Formats: sequence, C-alpha cells, structure tokens
Amino acid sequence: MKTAQLSHATNAYVDEGTGPPVLLVHGFPLDHTMWDAQVAALSQQARVIAPDLRGFGQTPLAPGDADRCISMEAYADDLAEFLDVLSIREPIVLAGFSMGGYVAWQFVRKHGARLRALVQCDTRAHADADEAREGRLKMAAHVAEWGSSRVAEMMGPRLFAPTTFATQPAVVASLRAVVERTSPAGIAAAQRGMAARPDVTSWLPSIGLPTLVLVGEVDAISPPAEMKEIAAAIPGAEFVVIPRAGHMTTMEEPEAVNDALRHFFDKLQH
Ligand code: MLT
Repeated sequence: MKTAQLSHATNAYVDEGTGPPVLLVHGFPLDHTMWDAQVAALSQQARVIAPDLRGFGQTPLAPGDADRCISMEAYADDLAEFLDVLSIREPIVLAGFSMGGYVAWQFVRKHGARLRALVQCDTRAHADADEAREGRLKMAAHVAEWGSSRVAEMMGPRLFAPTTFATQPAVVASLRAVVERTSPAGIAAAQRGMAARPDVTSWLPSIGLPTLVLVGEVDAISPPAEMKEIAAAIPGAEFVVIPRAGHMTTMEEPEAVNDALRHFFDKLQH
C-alpha cells in the first residue's frame, strides 16, 4: 500500500497500471480490497487508484473525527485533495460503490470539472427513510460497546445474494473479516454522515457526464428498480444488471463487472 499525506490524515491507497486515471471508491464499512479484482483487471489498460476513505482500511480518522459526523461531502473533498497530492490534474473516471456512490454524487457537485466519466455501482440517490436513519444513528451511538463484529452480523445477510453464501463462502468470509477490522469510531462517523446525506434525485438530470449505472440482480440494499430510475434520470446513462449478484457485485461476479467496466471505458476512448 502507498500513502499520501492529506491535511486531515495519511491516506492509504493502491495505485496500479498506467494510462487514463480511474478512481475506485469503496462502500461501508469496507475498504479498497472490495475492488481487488477490478484493480487487477483494469490496470492492464488504465491507472487504477483505490483509496481507503478516512476511518476505513489503513486510513485513520483525523483527530476529533471519532465524535463527529463525516459528511459525504467531506469524503469527496478528501478525494479532491488526494488527487491534488498525487498531482492528477487530468479528468478522471470516478467509480463509487454504495457509500462510495453517495460520496461520488457530492464529488460530481463540487468537483465535477475533474471528471471525465462516472460509474455508480449498487448505490442510491434517495436520502434515508426515517427508520433507516434512526437505525444508523443507533449504530453510531452503540458501535463502540457492540464492537465491529456485531456490525458484520447485522449487515452480513443483506450484502450478498442468497446463493453466494453457499457458492462462495471464502468471499463472504473475507468481507466479514474486513468489516470486523473496521474501527467502531470510523463506523460511527460514517453512519452519522450517511444519516445526514441529502436526497440527490433532483440533481440527476443535470449530470452531463458519460455515466454507467451498475447493480446486482438481487441487490437488497440498493434495489435494481431504484438504480434503473437513477439511470433513466441521468441523460444518456447506460444501465447494466449483473446476473446472480447481490449488493457486493464487484466481489460476487468480478468478471461480469470487469466486462461492463471495460466495455464502458472502451466506448470513452472513441
Ligand atoms: C454500503 O455498502 O456502502 C452500505 O450498504 C451503504 C449504506 O449503508 O447505505
């Protein structure tokens, strides 16, 4: 892993390959490893950069973050600063997964001039319903006493397609280990940030970037019907459903996701 010194924290990341830059932003409460298969495949044709967001993986929280909410906008600002530190000035392809997608909407709004194209995977544009928001705030308040393993137990059943638990137990176990390694303070700060995130559906028609919207066929967290609406609202967006996958498309069906990304990138070159 490499590190880049930002004003708030030392940001850990992987950076593989050469060519047009692609930034992969992970979900909650995960880290860059959920993109391992995409980094390996796409770095054959692009410079693929996958950071750990603040409080996840090997990027620590900044002083004071533990008691705070880190907004989706703050993570987006971290990414913009991260690109500056890496001296990446050319427009990038930004791919966000789930919480990384919430961050990507904010990046489009604040730093859109830095983008060449957008990929939104298994994410949502709506804000939370009241019950979901309350659940997040409850987790934020109690995760220090619960520990991250309880979060893994709570979230685990919804992350994968039902068949994946039987057919790919090693993938399920590796993701669970990532969640268990995530610090309770990082989980709490991000949950508060997600609870406070705005509904962005009204912004979608103004997104003027080539966009790919990708979702697992049986994603229980960001349902395909909702993602289809996102794609329909963004002018010219392409919509791809990954057969058999649940929420964790990039890990459950990596080849299908890689094919969709390669196809999208190839079209950008022409
Ligand atoms: C994620 O995968 O990032 C989370 O499921 C997002 C969320 O909790 O809304």
